[in-house]
Amino acid sequence: MFPQHIIARKRDGHALTRDEIVAFVRGATDGSWADYQLSAMLMAIVWRGMTPQETAFYTEAMMHSGVVADLSSLKVPKADKHSTGGVGDKVSLHLAPMIAACGVAVPMISGRGLGHTGGTLDKLEAIPGFRVNLPLDAYRAQLEQIGLALIGQTADLAPADKKLYALRDVTATVESIPLICGSILSKKLAEGIDVLVLDVKFGRGAFMKDKAKARELAQALVSVATAMGKPTRAVLTAMDEPLGGTVGNALEVMESIECLRGHGPADLMEVTFALGEQMLLLAKVVATKDEARAKLEASLASGAALEKFRAMVAAQGGETRVVDEPVRLPQAKFKEALAATQAGFVTEVDAMGVALAALRLGAGRAKAEDKIDHAVGVSALVKVGERVAVGAPLGVVHANDASALAEAKAMLAKAIVVGERATAPGRLVEEILG
Ligand code: URA
Repeated sequence: MFPQHIIARKRDGHALTRDEIVAFVRGATDGSWADYQLSAMLMAIVWRGMTPQETAFYTEAMMHSGVVADLSSLKVPKADKHSTGGVGDKVSLHLAPMIAACGVAVPMISGRGLGHTGGTLDKLEAIPGFRVNLPLDAYRAQLEQIGLALIGQTADLAPADKKLYALRDVTATVESIPLICGSILSKKLAEGIDVLVLDVKFGRGAFMKDKAKARELAQALVSVATAMGKPTRAVLTAMDEPLGGTVGNALEVMESIECLRGHGPADLMEVTFALGEQMLLLAKVVATKDEARAKLEASLASGAALEKFRAMVAAQGGETRVVDEPVRLPQAKFKEALAATQAGFVTEVDAMGVALAALRLGAGRAKAEDKIDHAVGVSALVKVGERVAVGAPLGVVHANDASALAEAKAMLAKAIVVGERATAPGRLVEEILG
């Protein structure tokens, strides 16, 4: 099977066979297809699409391009959640220990952020000493011991995705539902999970801006994962303003610890509970949504979830004292509030604008090789609908560089709009699919 023949079949709009798709994915893994052939194939898929059957073949081949973790020795159900990414989205940091405290193991293999904010791994690395690069044996042992591990993608997990994602990033071939499905699910299904909950975001701070397109992606992810024998649900959530009151790695860890102490902000906890309820329902440790909610709330009230978080930090070499003394997390040199210049109501906090301000401070990466500054970002952000007086703080900018501070403050000022009339914040949890 020559690559050019398979590429031509997709170019001409044919549905590929399982063998043809396997040949393409193998070509990405072992280098037998040249980068230009892989790129041509990716572009043909962007244009011609894939049928649900082809998408399932593709996801399966991507998943089997490397190791699939075997967690069958764990006697409890294993659930994970994945978010398509949002500004201030630190949900995994506190939701994973909450779920583990409810008796469901969470084997979570996460990514780093590229684009507007840091990813889960970047946030965890704000904790001094925290190791995200665990080999699969240590990952399995930790899951057996404490029911929770948050690690980075190992080299042997879905290697075809690593190769293809790097090409997609530079060949304008990211925006394709079958390619996104194969990419996300190959990594998640290789973790060894039983069930999966996806947080598919839409809005100005999301990867998918358009709600209908996000729904289409959510539907495809649910259908493919379910067809592959992993019960999956997707929660469609809005991402127009940042989630919670912080954006920036150490600041988000601090906010997650507050959530675990039972003091999380309303919007962040709404998304956390919505996802957690679906995880417990799919894992079949509860029969109803109300029961799931009560169990999650009890994990916070009893301190069990906070203790799971502490156990994970200890197991992964992190400084556990940050749990009780978050000031031990990296702190920025400058902390300056942005004051409101007019009285009224907050009508807009543009998630993308806030993310770009945080990026200017060094909280995210503009290029894959950029180094992140864990201390910087924005905290105490106002929320849409809040009333503010002249001079009231709209947010606090944390910076390590005076010129970045000034620029980020100006960017934040543009992202937050104060008007005369109160606007009610929009609905956060839009729909549950699956
Ligand atoms: N995230 C992924 O891991 N892959 C994609 O293709 C898009 C988002």
